[in-house]
Amino acid sequence: MAPSTRWLVMALYAQLGLAVPGGSSTGSSEVTCTDTEVSTNLLATGNTKDESGASYGLNTTLETYYSDVNEIYEGVCVHRFLDLYPANDSISASGAESSQYTDRSKIGTWLWSQMWNEHYDSPVYNYFWDHAPPGQDQGAYHESEINYVLNNLYATDKPWTAEDYAIAKNMNAYWANIIKTGNPNGKALVSWPAVNSSELVQHVGDGWGQIPVAWGRKIDPFKSWFATLKKY
Ligand SMILES: *[C@@H]1O[C@H](CO)[C@@H](O)[C@H](O)[C@H]1NC(C)=O
Ligand SMILES: *[C@@H]1O[C@H](CO)[C@@H](O)[C@H](O)[C@H]1NC(C)=O
Ligand SMILES: *[C@@H]1O[C@H](CO)[C@@H](O)[C@H](O)[C@H]1NC(C)=O
Repeated sequence: MAPSTRWLVMALYAQLGLAVPGGSSTGSSEVTCTDTEVSTNLLATGNTKDESGASYGLNTTLETYYSDVNEIYEGVCVHRFLDLYPANDSISASGAESSQYTDRSKIGTWLWSQMWNEHYDSPVYNYFWDHAPPGQDQGAYHESEINYVLNNLYATDKPWTAEDYAIAKNMNAYWANIIKTGNPNGKALVSWPAVNSSELVQHVGDGWGQIPVAWGRKIDPFKSWFATLKKY
């Protein structure tokens, strides 16, 4: 890979909080300048439900929602977004605002995985995590999947339930398989196919298996919006 491509991949690792093949899971603060050789043999990436703008339990007004949508999607048919994420009061506006952020990250990562598939022969595995850890009110917050991937609930002080341990067992098995064989699939696990052109993502957390990356006609408007962003 050219150095600039390496940096792009690095930035994505950092931004998306990816699990790096070879064992360590990175957040942005853990990526250092010496990590420039990132393997392109295998990639697993994903998003959590309540990150990158989406906030669990958001309480906003209809006016703020309209103003946010107008500001963010200005020039990309704001009415398409309002049709897809309708609201008419504070409760529906709060739900719509968070949903469009959740969908935006899911669709953004999926679009990126399509680019990966165009350029590399190696597989990319994409997940969507939606389980809210117990004892907190931020939902399935940024990096909330990490405890489960590493199966280290015992070392983190939260009121874990039997369900959390069961989820951690599956998550850890997927990631252990990725590290061992380059493929998350294994005995007793719900099949997790590599990304192809189907508009699907692997649901992990409160359910398991392939689900639509977004419902209905939502992918197109986001694709148009991403195309307007400045390329770095
Ligand atoms: C949302 O905020 C408004 C204004 O502060 C408040 O009156 C309302 O009770 C809140 N709604 C919820 C569901 O928390
Ligand atoms: C708000 O939207 C919901 C869902 O589309 C609809 O059922 C409801 O009638 C609407 N309320 C008003 C006051 O327009
Ligand atoms: C994508 O992969 C899934 C699961 O392996 C398969 O069912 C589907 O037919 C594939 N889609 C395309 C367009 O190749």
